Amino acid sequence: MSTLDDQAKESTDEAAVESTEAIQDNGTGGYIILFFILGFIASLLVGWIAFPMALYSKKEQPVAFNHALHMDEVENGCESCHFFRDDGSYSGVPKLEQCIECHEEVQGDNENEAHFVSEYVEKEREVPWLIYSKQPDCVFFSHAAHVLKAKMDCVTCHGPVGEMESLPVYEENRITGYSREVWGKNIAGLKKNSWDRMKMDDCADCHKESNNKVTSVQTEKDACFVCHK
Ligand code: HEC
Ligand code: HEC
Ligand code: HEC
Ligand code: HEC
Ligand code: HEC
Repeated sequence: MSTLDDQAKESTDEAAVESTEAIQDNGTGGYIILFFILGFIASLLVGWIAFPMALYSKKEQPVAFNHALHMDEVENGCESCHFFRDDGSYSGVPKLEQCIECHEEVQGDNENEAHFVSEYVEKEREVPWLIYSKQPDCVFFSHAAHVLKAKMDCVTCHGPVGEMESLPVYEENRITGYSREVWGKNIAGLKKNSWDRMKMDDCADCHKESNNKVTSVQTEKDACFVCHK
């Protein structure tokens, strides 16, 4: 009995010694942990802030355009400027001729309007708008299939662009040349809203969900040609 007690006592003593050693160790251990935390923070800063900043170059749109203001001025809503042609193709961003009826001459004392009129309307130059949702050339996308046939809302894919008072900054990926809208603002590729990202998987995920409607996807398992021509 007594020997067992002694052994138990001895082992608690050992444990006590070990724990005091551990406390003394904390001197260097603490630094190691501190270095680890600093290193971790530094890599987070690089990964989440410095890398995306280096990866994307910011570009300004040639003209500051205000969607919200124009929605009060036009008669046919979005279709006044973005419409389907008779052959079913989509007009996309408007051409100068769609602006001229109202901006033949400067109407207000707004410097953005003055810049637009003097640089583009008077010189008869098309505005080289940067396209946020621009997909690579190998991708085929049809607005008619989504908007006319599937009756989808612009917001599902573009977010609330049509209600904005100013244009978002355009960001171009220095390596791929793609707009940041394709990969999304979140560097890890996470998304909260349906319009946060428009990579191949995002198109495909929605096509899978609406499988009975996307005819070619239903019949052909790997129908690459649905989106690649
Ligand atoms: C008076 C003309 C006009 C009207 C009306 C208008 N837009 Fe636009 N829209 C533009 C111009 C000009 C651009 C190019 C600048 C830009 O990227 O915003 C544009 C660009 C866009 C883009 C960006 C496409 C891309 O990927 O770069 C979206 C999305 C869009 N419009 C949606 C809408 C929606 C939705 C409405 C209706 C709520 C609407 N627009 C009404 C003129 C108009
Ligand atoms: C139905 C008439 C109408 C059409 C069509 C129209 N605009 Fe305007 N636009 C206006 C009015 C009204 C204003 C406000 C005038 C002001 O205060 O300068 C304005 C303001 C502007 C401004 C200055 C606004 C700002 O917030 O900086 C720009 C730039 C502009 N328009 C560009 C365009 C472009 C580009 C198009 C063609 C895609 C277009 N507008 C088509 C009526 C129109
Ligand atoms: C299913 C998703 C989806 C829906 C719904 C959708 N778009 Fe788009 N839109 C896109 C994609 C993807 C592109 C880029 C296409 C490309 O680069 O080939 C685009 C491009 C555009 C452009 C720029 C085209 C250009 O290059 O000139 C405009 C403007 C636009 N969309 C407006 C709209 C409007 C307005 C609506 C609602 C009536 C709408 N879109 C609905 C996905 C969508
Ligand atoms: C939120 C849902 C959704 C997203 C996102 C989406 N699509 Fe679709 N797509 C559909 C639906 C639904 C149809 C079927 C329309 C119909 O025929 O009724 C369709 C049809 C198509 C078609 C025509 C297919 C056929 O069989 O004729 C093409 C091409 C296409 N999508 C390409 C794309 C591309 C490229 C993207 C991504 C840039 C994309 N789609 C994103 C829902 C989506
Ligand atoms: C639902 C539409 C859709 C289908 C189906 C689809 N893709 Fe894509 N694909 C895209 C879109 C959108 C992009 C551009 C965005 C990106 O890089 O994710 C793309 C990009 C690519 C790229 C990269 C091209 C580049 O220039 O970066 C390759 C390679 C590719 N797809 C191959 C395939 C193959 C192989 C299949 C068939 C197994 C396929 N895709 C089916 C929509 C689709």
